[in-house]
Amino acid sequence: MTTWTPVGKVNDFAIGTAKAFELEGEAVCLIRNSNGFHAVADACTHGAVSLSEGTVTDEGIECFLHGSEFSLVTGVPKTPPATTAIEVFKVQVEGDGDNAVVSVGI
Ligand code: FES
Repeated sequence: MTTWTPVGKVNDFAIGTAKAFELEGEAVCLIRNSNGFHAVADACTHGAVSLSEGTVTDEGIECFLHGSEFSLVTGVPKTPPATTAIEVFKVQVEGDGDNAVVSVGI
């Protein structure tokens, strides 16, 4: 069963940024890009560093250490050296406009 945890309002997160949260015992990286909100495990599968410190792209998040870019939809690394997918979590946005509430489902 999915547990939904509110993490903030839409206008708390600028487009092109990532933020780390601890939710239900999981390290989660919430990302807002030009396609909306995404949530993935906040640990690169190559070196276990925080992905929230990486670079947000239109399609993924790029690890700051060695540059693997992970899909925000599937979690699969699109570029080496990482070869293992990261976990992808659900995100919902309830309400209208900048004050809509963003929640992550674990
Ligand atoms: S630690 Fe992330 S790509 Fe190496």
